[in-house]
Amino acid sequence: MKKYEHRREINPYLSIVIPTYNEADNIAEVIKRLSYSLNRELKDRYEIIIVDDNSPDKTWLVAYDTLRSLDISGLVVVRENMRGIGSAIVAGIREARGEYIAVMDADLQHPPEELINMFKKAVGEGFDLVIASRYVRGGGVEGWGLHRRIISKTASLIARILIPHARRIRDPMSGYFLFKRDKVSIEKLRGEGSKVLLEIVVRGSIRSVHEHPYIFRRRSRGESKLGLREIMRFTHQILVLSDYKILKFAAVGASGIGVNWGVLYILKEFMRIPLYASYAVSIETSLTTNFVLNDLWTFSRERSKSVFRRYLEYHVAQLAGLLINYITTIVLSHFMYYLMASFIGILLGFLANYIISTEYVWGQKRLLR
Ligand code: GDD
Ligand code: MN
Repeated sequence: MKKYEHRREINPYLSIVIPTYNEADNIAEVIKRLSYSLNRELKDRYEIIIVDDNSPDKTWLVAYDTLRSLDISGLVVVRENMRGIGSAIVAGIREARGEYIAVMDADLQHPPEELINMFKKAVGEGFDLVIASRYVRGGGVEGWGLHRRIISKTASLIARILIPHARRIRDPMSGYFLFKRDKVSIEKLRGEGSKVLLEIVVRGSIRSVHEHPYIFRRRSRGESKLGLREIMRFTHQILVLSDYKILKFAAVGASGIGVNWGVLYILKEFMRIPLYASYAVSIETSLTTNFVLNDLWTFSRERSKSVFRRYLEYHVAQLAGLLINYITTIVLSHFMYYLMASFIGILLGFLANYIISTEYVWGQKRLLR
């Protein structure tokens, strides 16, 4: 790792971290436009940290020359044996000295002029985290086909389902954001996936979030690095960040089917209890074993409410899941093969159950007064 510094004796208020890979055609303009809009309010009170993974097009050299010629306090880190946007961002955050730390891309898809507004919002209104958001009123994307829109929206939806901390955020996949440094234990960040924002939301202690609308611009030069590999890494990242809870929850649910059948079989075959009664008992038994397993395993660290309340609310979660399963199956069976409809019903019912469980039963919200 090499470092090229152009630091002046200042105590920065804002540090801007920019990961780059083959952005030689863009980086100078990003730095220029940033400095024009920041100098008016923050002259000499910000620093720019560029983390480049030894780009073949020598982005780091262009970046360093630009910092020097504009006399901007900053640092260019060149990593010679590492590749990856997430780890690059985290490396940059570790170098940052500002009270506020911003992260943005170097390809001008994130308009540099928005940063000063985001910063003012954070300082002026005391937000711990300000996210440049495509998915709030006034925000959007430029020049995306339906295909990319769907991929992006689906990824956001998955992140919001799996990671309860991300649920209140409309654009949790944003790569353009700003946070207050003392709200995040920086040594805990790992940068294993590309979405450092998600990591900050999960591992930090952010209390207030504002989403600032912006238009994600078309990339005019260079190319996007998003590919199948990124999608795989993203999936892995959100599973890790969510502590694999949805998989544990699904495994517990599957065990419940076994309990349900086993109890039903014993009651019916050995004890000769009529089906309507056997079935009621076996359903409640499996619901209870599911509850106990989730309580002791899946959500062992989320047991803040009384056990009685959790048990009660879990019934509501289960019932809601069943109801959604039922309605979905009935409605969809008009349009498709009924087993297919039932499959989708089971899936949606499962998700409803999971969301209610994480928001209420093992979450902060209260379901029954
Ligand atoms: N150091 C380093 N190493 N930088 C990288 C690497 C890498 O391996 N891969 C990409 N970058 C840099 C790019 O040079 C650019 O500045 C930034 O990371 C984003 O890369 P793009 O390839 O342009 O990503 P994108 O346009 O598909 O997606 C971006 O925008 C989305 C919307 O805000 C990313 O920032 C996403 O995280 C974000 O959701
Ligand atoms: Mn881009």
